[in-house]
Amino acid sequence: MPLNPFKLERYFARYEFAVEYLLCSSDCESLAVGDLLALEPGAAERLHHHWLGYTESQGAPGLRQEISRIYTRIQPEQVLVHSGAEEAIFLFMQAALSPGDHVIVHWPCYQSLLELPRALGCQVSPWRAYPERGWALDLDELRSLIRPNTRAIVVNTPHNPTGYLMGKVEFAALNQLAEERGLVLFSDEVYRESEHDPAARLEAACDLSERAVSLGVMSKTYGLAGLRIGWIATRDAALYARMAGLKDYTTICNSAPSEFLAELALRHRERIAQRNLGIILSNLALLDGFFARQAGRFEWRRPAAGPIAFPRLTGEEVEAFCDRLVKQAGVLLLPGTLFDHAGDHFRIGFGRANMPKALERLEAFLGE
Ligand SMILES: Cc1ncc(COP(=O)(O)O)c(C=O)c1O
Repeated sequence: MPLNPFKLERYFARYEFAVEYLLCSSDCESLAVGDLLALEPGAAERLHHHWLGYTESQGAPGLRQEISRIYTRIQPEQVLVHSGAEEAIFLFMQAALSPGDHVIVHWPCYQSLLELPRALGCQVSPWRAYPERGWALDLDELRSLIRPNTRAIVVNTPHNPTGYLMGKVEFAALNQLAEERGLVLFSDEVYRESEHDPAARLEAACDLSERAVSLGVMSKTYGLAGLRIGWIATRDAALYARMAGLKDYTTICNSAPSEFLAELALRHRERIAQRNLGIILSNLALLDGFFARQAGRFEWRRPAAGPIAFPRLTGEEVEAFCDRLVKQAGVLLLPGTLFDHAGDHFRIGFGRANMPKALERLEAFLGE
């Protein structure tokens, strides 16, 4: 079946590099190559001599070693590096699913998590997050969705677009349920390590369960989207081998300079994540004030993790509002309709350093 256009990416394609203020980005503030190289003496010299031949298809050994340190039970050979999280999602779906399989997907969601299984000919059931429950998911509802042909559960926490962070007990129960029912749990954890209270961080699914696949990336918490380095970590050797085999038909191996820089960044990931959490928390405080002043126009649910939230606009249709805002004030928000979500929500992003200026511009626009 053909893939439908990726609505969010098509919207970004129109505006991302044309507007003054992106107030909807899901990534944190980035760094320049020089900033990364300055993290270690000798790094610039080492990059200068870095060999530009093909790299190991699974990912450079040093990089896989560094990624494995993020987890407690993962060895470097259980990490498969990809070009961004997006390639990993693509290959996982191809490797794990067949036409006619049933898949349960946390919804609303980043479109590829639902669109790829649909296009592969799978039956897809949304596992719904409801705003009135703070975007929480209901495990009993999940149990009722499982069918004899269910093959996988796809979950994303911390969540895009709502910023929802599942509780530890619930996440452990989800992992257990998937194991008991023989289902693969695909856990999109690309916003992990950006929890507003680090004590609330979940254990990675690949550590909790032998059948689970954890998805990680350089783009979000660490702000290094331009490296295009993502990965999966799993103790399921058969699934790993199928994904590794499919990678021969997409990118074969990763960009050598990107692997070098990603490995370097991950050696200092706590420092980078800490800087970005500082930006997130100070921007969140501004958002609290903004939404308190604008309480008549918006419904605000403060998220528990990550650089995005999904507030609701009241009294106006959200697509028209976002369209006026970008055209008249040069500020980009993402209408919830891009996630096929009705209800006048929009995604707001607060991981970037220029967010206070963007928010000022939004508030001035509201006052006009
Ligand atoms: C939940 C989720 N998964 C995966 C991705 C893809 O990440 P990348 O663009 O770094 O490949 C994104 C990007 O927005 C995302 O929000």
